[in-house]
Amino acid sequence: MASVETVIEDHDIVICAGSGGVGKTTTSAAIALGMAARGKRVCVLTIDPAKRLADSLGLEELGNEATQVDPKLLEAQGVATENGGELWAMMLDAKETFDALVARHAEDAEARDRVLNNRIYQQISGALAGSQEYMAMEKLFELHSEGRFDLLVLDTPPSRNALDFLDAPMRLTQFIEGKSLQIFIKPSGMAARFASRGTGMALSVLKRIVGFDLLADLSEFFTAFSGMIDGFQDRAHRVGSLLADQRTCFLIICGPQGEPIEEAVFFHSKLIENEMNFGAAVVNRVRYRLGTRQVKVRDLTERIDSELDDADLSARLARTLSEYDVLAVRDQKNIDLLAESLDGEPLIRIPYLDNDVHDIAGLCEINKYLFTDEKDRVEKATS
Ligand SMILES: Nc1ncnc2c1ncn2[C@@H]1O[C@H](COP(=O)(O)OP(=O)(O)OP(=O)(O)O)[C@@H](O)[C@H]1O
Ligand SMILES: [Mg+2]
Repeated sequence: MASVETVIEDHDIVICAGSGGVGKTTTSAAIALGMAARGKRVCVLTIDPAKRLADSLGLEELGNEATQVDPKLLEAQGVATENGGELWAMMLDAKETFDALVARHAEDAEARDRVLNNRIYQQISGALAGSQEYMAMEKLFELHSEGRFDLLVLDTPPSRNALDFLDAPMRLTQFIEGKSLQIFIKPSGMAARFASRGTGMALSVLKRIVGFDLLADLSEFFTAFSGMIDGFQDRAHRVGSLLADQRTCFLIICGPQGEPIEEAVFFHSKLIENEMNFGAAVVNRVRYRLGTRQVKVRDLTERIDSELDDADLSARLARTLSEYDVLAVRDQKNIDLLAESLDGEPLIRIPYLDNDVHDIAGLCEINKYLFTDEKDRVEKATS
């Protein structure tokens, strides 16, 4: 089975999607590092990476802009960059990206500030369903249009469901086009009607309860926002079509347990249904069987005891090994199911490493499995 390099070679955007905690951030950073080591100018757009990983890449001060990882940090781990490769990274900040979008679509500075300073906007820009997913794509679109990089690798937000990501542009346009917003934008709309009763009892009560003039804020927000709607919609459609573009491919990251595998199968079918390019499934934290026959705790204990000469310790060790073997068998069964549904399309396994992956050395360890073929992967994981 292919190396990740062959999977992504014809694409200039790679999106690592998958459900929460499966290793999306780790895989995206590792792929970006691996491709930089192969001479490409790569930028990884990462979301909320573990602090230690961000620190090890020297990204602690990073805002919403791409910053180059110091080549010296890479060289210290044996990653050559004299072939022209560059690793850049940025941490995505959904709110900042949304603010930048408002600034782009506002007619003038005053309209911009009216929206940015509005309390309703401040609430919805962070909480709008799918806004984090959408803003990740928005930033991707922006960087892709600039053409500064050979490859962009997008990490995706920790959503419960990987499909949230695919729906994000649609949900944003639906929100903008939807009835709730239109009611407020039309001059004869609800906000205007309420606002005209300005001094009414109900309003002053409401004002006291929420602590500020909610309806005035709503009305102001929607009026200011209405001028930006065409720009927003157009942009969201273009961002959406970039997802389905030939230059983009998806990697589905998942764990080897039953539920994540089922989700991966479902996500794969959704990608095909939406005519998006599937690259590979990456099954992370896989336990490999160390032998070919199911181990028996008693036999193992006897064998280990002769080496250790400590009956209690060898019994415990034998039990752990046998439990590990049960999990390895289960992982294999689940991966077989996934392979069957992928029908020959690439599937890459990364073993459960002994340590967390929180620095460049850890990413290099992951790359020993991502950037090689299946035969070599199995050899490495079981030796
Ligand atoms: N193959 C591996 N072996 C051991 N530990 C791993 C492996 N891959 C990832 N990890 C560790 O698992 C944890 C979760 O990984 P990661 O942050 O990449 O997941 P994620 O999918 O991005 O999570 P979230 O959905 O919360 O963003 C991290 O602490 C990481 O170091
Ligand atoms: Mg993550």
